[in-house]
Amino acid sequence: MKKILILAMAFLLFFGCSTEKPVQTEEAKPLKKVEKPDPLPYLDDGPTLREAADAQGMNIGVALHAGNLNREFFAENVKNHFNYITAEDELKWSGIHPSEDTYVYSPVDMILEFAEQNNMKVRGHTLIWHNQLGYWVKRDEALWTPETLAQTMKDHIDNVAGHYRGRIYAWDVVNEAFDAGNYRKSVFFNVIGKDYIKMAFEMAHEADPDALLYYNDYGIETVGAKSTAVYNMAKELLAAGVPIHGIGFQSHLILEQPFNIDSFRKNIQRFVDLGLKVDLTELDIRIRRPATVESFQKQAEIYKQIMEVMLSFPTCDTVVFWGLSDKNSWIPSSFSGYGEPLLFDNDYQPKPAFFAVREVLNGGPVDLGEIGGGEEKARRTIPSFVAKKAGTVPVIDGKINGDEWEKGIKYPLGFNQLNTQDERPPMDINDLSGEWTVLYDGKTLYGLVKRTDEKTVTSVGQDWENDTVEVFFDLNGVFTQLRTLIGKGFQPNSYPGNKKAVWSSDGSVLEFSVDMPDNNLEALVCGWNIALADNDGGSVRQHQLYPVTGQNDSYQGVNLATLTFEGNSPRPPEGPRVVVPFWAKKADGIKVDGSYSDAEWKNAVKYPFLYNQLGTMDVRKTYDNNDIYGEWAIAYSGNKMYGYVKRQDDVTKLDAPDVWENDCVEVFVEIDKAFTQMRTLVGQDWGEDSYKGKKKAVWSADGTVLEFEIELPRNGSGMGIIGFNIALADNDGGAKREAQLYPIYGFNDSWQGVNLAELEFVK
Ligand code: XIL
Repeated sequence: MKKILILAMAFLLFFGCSTEKPVQTEEAKPLKKVEKPDPLPYLDDGPTLREAADAQGMNIGVALHAGNLNREFFAENVKNHFNYITAEDELKWSGIHPSEDTYVYSPVDMILEFAEQNNMKVRGHTLIWHNQLGYWVKRDEALWTPETLAQTMKDHIDNVAGHYRGRIYAWDVVNEAFDAGNYRKSVFFNVIGKDYIKMAFEMAHEADPDALLYYNDYGIETVGAKSTAVYNMAKELLAAGVPIHGIGFQSHLILEQPFNIDSFRKNIQRFVDLGLKVDLTELDIRIRRPATVESFQKQAEIYKQIMEVMLSFPTCDTVVFWGLSDKNSWIPSSFSGYGEPLLFDNDYQPKPAFFAVREVLNGGPVDLGEIGGGEEKARRTIPSFVAKKAGTVPVIDGKINGDEWEKGIKYPLGFNQLNTQDERPPMDINDLSGEWTVLYDGKTLYGLVKRTDEKTVTSVGQDWENDTVEVFFDLNGVFTQLRTLIGKGFQPNSYPGNKKAVWSSDGSVLEFSVDMPDNNLEALVCGWNIALADNDGGSVRQHQLYPVTGQNDSYQGVNLATLTFEGNSPRPPEGPRVVVPFWAKKADGIKVDGSYSDAEWKNAVKYPFLYNQLGTMDVRKTYDNNDIYGEWAIAYSGNKMYGYVKRQDDVTKLDAPDVWENDCVEVFVEIDKAFTQMRTLVGQDWGEDSYKGKKKAVWSADGTVLEFEIELPRNGSGMGIIGFNIALADNDGGAKREAQLYPIYGFNDSWQGVNLAELEFVK
């Protein structure tokens, strides 16, 4: 094959590879553009990041575009603070090999020369990737046979990796080959099958025998369906003698989505145990705008924890930040509404994150003690949602025909997982509310979602920021996330089974069906979640309501709820699966006096009462907030746990003969294996029970607010996870209560100490 080497200017490459960038429309130009002077490169009395990293034998890297090296202050910052560079776009297929016979080497040459002059290592990113791939390769899969495509891969790898042989320290040989837990359906996978991965590593090794070779992906930082799929692949490759040396965790993190640092450690450990290296290859932590002083501090804290974990593994020696400063980051243009993810700010000044990273590097190796701890053993499963077998199989047409859904249990959607400090749904049910039910027949799951929303938005660029319904399941090792925008079918994804989604014309009813990865669902248990997103205008969604609490990480295949396909056949369930605990955060200065204030309860995570556990076929709370509405939070300070309940109720009944049938709040705790049920009737202190510690309950005069405190056996910060539930009972005037609302689905048997949720005392 003829190879033409074109020495192009750096800007040519930027245009060449920019086809995949989101289109940015230009605003009308302001009359005068005030040019800011270049900032000075940042130096202070402390060590540079590079000095601190060198002292630990760490590679501290930055991704950059070649053109920026022409700016002196930029180049200075890079060589002062980093000893390692990744070409942010220049080595991607579409940039370096834009047509069959064209190779564009000059921007990469420029980066390599800069690196070599300054004694820095360079990471090659990336050889085989479905994105930013030459259009000529992906234009039409039918043009390829397995042989011709493999030959094209080989030409590409020989030329690119071969051209820079001996000069690239590490290669991301294959990038993003998984879509959730499944092999991604790229042109390479579709034409060659999963062996293209093995072939790519072999080709890369041949082209540059000294380079370290990595598999690189996002969303694999913690233990979950996707990282496990990568882990299994890595094991397979190693067993087959494939030259793979490490795994790159891209690590594009989101500040608002808590990062499970223990799970991150466990995950690294299992790859290290295979003899692989683990690099963080594209680290950034984006912030939902506007960023505040507080969010910068929180960001620094997460960077710190991540660096500590890296420094606790002797073989983990590389951390690459995806951009020098917030000004250079890919985030704002790729994730609307997010920004400020890096160590330096928009003016190239250091952020709290910079100092946090430097401090950890400076401190040297970190001892984090044993991985794990006993905490997980305490985790319990909560009742599974249930899909009953369909009587009549529903017709998926966006219309509720006759009794086709009657057998289904009606569940509410109510935990807003987008706000980890306040998971309540909107107070106004017209703003957003929803319910769902599922049925099954054979291998097919049928679903119904009813939705109330005053405004429908489906035109935002990022699919998931629109009004959508998302369905997540994990069965027989297959995890997937399906998404439908209001009015549209399921979006295409890698899931191979048949799927169908049809909306009513007014967007209030969704019917869907999915063929599951099992021929007979009867009596199976699968990982499950379902979410209703609401965008009220703007580039990001405001709410995403799930049936369980959590931190919006179901898309990573983790923290799923469970769904049981009802039936008697003795099929072993998958699992056990646990649901995320509710959080009790530290909050000082709470006064238990029956008067609620936002300031007093600011640090406490707020949750709704969502499930009427007295219902069987319909466990929704009533949709009339005056009939009964409730929300709650628990916090701690020292050795006391504090709680509040807000309650709206049109009738207060307190003289039913059985005390539990009255309007009351009940709290259930299992601490150190001892279970207690506590009850406070509206307006009254706690009743008698067996609890050893002191406690107090105070209601507002009108019965709308309860505040309470409960003495713990030790400081809250040492409590870990306890068994927990909380219930709000509503009697509208008879001998029996009509409803009892809990934050989890269940059968009103918490009083027996079973089917409790969990409460985690967050440090
Ligand atoms: C991004 C670059 O930062 C952007 O400049 C470009 O427009 C798109 O790609 N995962 C990867 C990186 O592996 O290559 C991506 O980089 C970010 C996500």
